[in-house]
Amino acid sequence: MSTSPKPVKKVPIHLQSAQNRVYIKNGEIVNHDKSFKADVYIEDGIIKFVGPSSEITIPGGVRTIDASGLMIIPGGIDPHTHMQLPFGGAVAVDDFYHGTKAAVAGGTTMIIDFVLPNKHESMIEAYDKWRSWADPKVCCDYGLHVGITWWSKSVSEELGILCKELGVNSFKTFMAYKNLYQLNDSDLLDVFERIRGLNGVAMVHAENGDIIAKNTQRLLAEGITGPEGHELSRPEEVEAEAVHRACVLAHQMKTPLFVSGLTSKSSAELVGRARRSGYCVFGETLASSLGRSMSGVPKGDRIYCITSPPIRESAETPRQLMKSLAYDDLQLTGSDNCTFNKEHKALGKGDFTKIPNGVNGVEDRMSLVWEKGVHAGLLDPCRFVAVTSTNAAKIFNIYPQKGRIAVGSDADIVIWNPNATRTISKDTHHHACDFNIFEGMTVHGVCEFVLVRGRICAERGNVRVAEGFGRFIPTPVRPPFVYDIIEGKVQASSEEQQEHQERQNGNVAKRFAE
Ligand code: URP
Ligand code: ZN
Ligand code: ZN
Repeated sequence: MSTSPKPVKKVPIHLQSAQNRVYIKNGEIVNHDKSFKADVYIEDGIIKFVGPSSEITIPGGVRTIDASGLMIIPGGIDPHTHMQLPFGGAVAVDDFYHGTKAAVAGGTTMIIDFVLPNKHESMIEAYDKWRSWADPKVCCDYGLHVGITWWSKSVSEELGILCKELGVNSFKTFMAYKNLYQLNDSDLLDVFERIRGLNGVAMVHAENGDIIAKNTQRLLAEGITGPEGHELSRPEEVEAEAVHRACVLAHQMKTPLFVSGLTSKSSAELVGRARRSGYCVFGETLASSLGRSMSGVPKGDRIYCITSPPIRESAETPRQLMKSLAYDDLQLTGSDNCTFNKEHKALGKGDFTKIPNGVNGVEDRMSLVWEKGVHAGLLDPCRFVAVTSTNAAKIFNIYPQKGRIAVGSDADIVIWNPNATRTISKDTHHHACDFNIFEGMTVHGVCEFVLVRGRICAERGNVRVAEGFGRFIPTPVRPPFVYDIIEGKVQASSEEQQEHQERQNGNVAKRFAE
């Protein structure tokens, strides 16, 4: 019998400028479903080859990166940011330039920001405003969710336009922020029904705004005006009640629900329970609540950590939330990046209700999830990829264009050093704000290289982004990952679902490569 080796089909390489072509060799590719050793070749922003070096001929002039000992992971997708948001009498200081520069520096190559219309403002006009802010400034790709901050026939009509013409499939409702964004249950039901009719995804900020308003009145009357009043006005059960109610309202309307920004164990457990009962619900927690608690924070520093729902007091919470991600009670990590300077936070000195709401997180999210998840032994690297990138791509229907290292996918790639460490500081971060809520923390998991659609934007600590390079990525309606659950083809939480997803990954990837 002949032992001559099988002829290998070599991938043809077209000569182009070296800038457009990158070859990454000797790395370990980590996708959400498997990891394996392979080389990656990129041309014009797209992954053209994934496989052994024996199957590709690389001409001279291609930028070659040796990734020996490193991981090649899909760029992070942060599904929850608020760049340059006008809120609480100030404007978030990370605009779309600084915010996406910080994102890229930390290994996030796409953000999904929230258009938040004012009450009675047209959603389309607000959407146009956000596009005009973001398009010239973004350093990485971005998508948009739109907030439903009031409800009327015209809002309902605009939802249709956003879904059908403007590339938005996800809409955030609010059960908190009474007299600002809050909707009552009756409106929530109408909104969910409409979103379902459009094959979209409903999102919810789940805290009971009526209880918060009552508690706030009482606390201020009792003379509790400092930042400690913030969590006292909205303890865990105020979040949990709203999470449960939102799950039931959406389930009754057969609408998929994304519960955004969960910060407590009880809420995470409720999402897990709903999923096991067959509800189509997904839960996101945040870099801030995974990275730290409020335990031991001196009184004078508490004002800088105010966000909603709050970073919890209990020192156990970060680990409990990470376990919820490991068990698939929760599926995603966002940052809720909405940064203010110390002078802006000081607007709420003497009245905690006036502290502008929000913290940093877009730059440090990936490292924090690695440190508290993988380095701590709670997540494996594949689950890390799922909760920082792939699940967001699937839920918002941009998979496998984003969220996967595969032929045909965008070359949004991070070359990740799992063993290197860095110490987080306001002095070295890329945010525009003058403090960092993770100041002084040392984390494992460092980006050696970050590629945004094939462009090397960060290289061993040197961040060289291009303002306006990012593109708006439309998110089409009817994500199969979500609607296969709604249509009863699969359960949200089961082994059968995992197998179904694996089959679907294969099919989607095949279709995508054709
Ligand atoms: O998230 C922040 N910081 N502000 C916007 C309102 C919200 O909860 O989305
Ligand atoms: Zn929110
Ligand atoms: Zn938010």
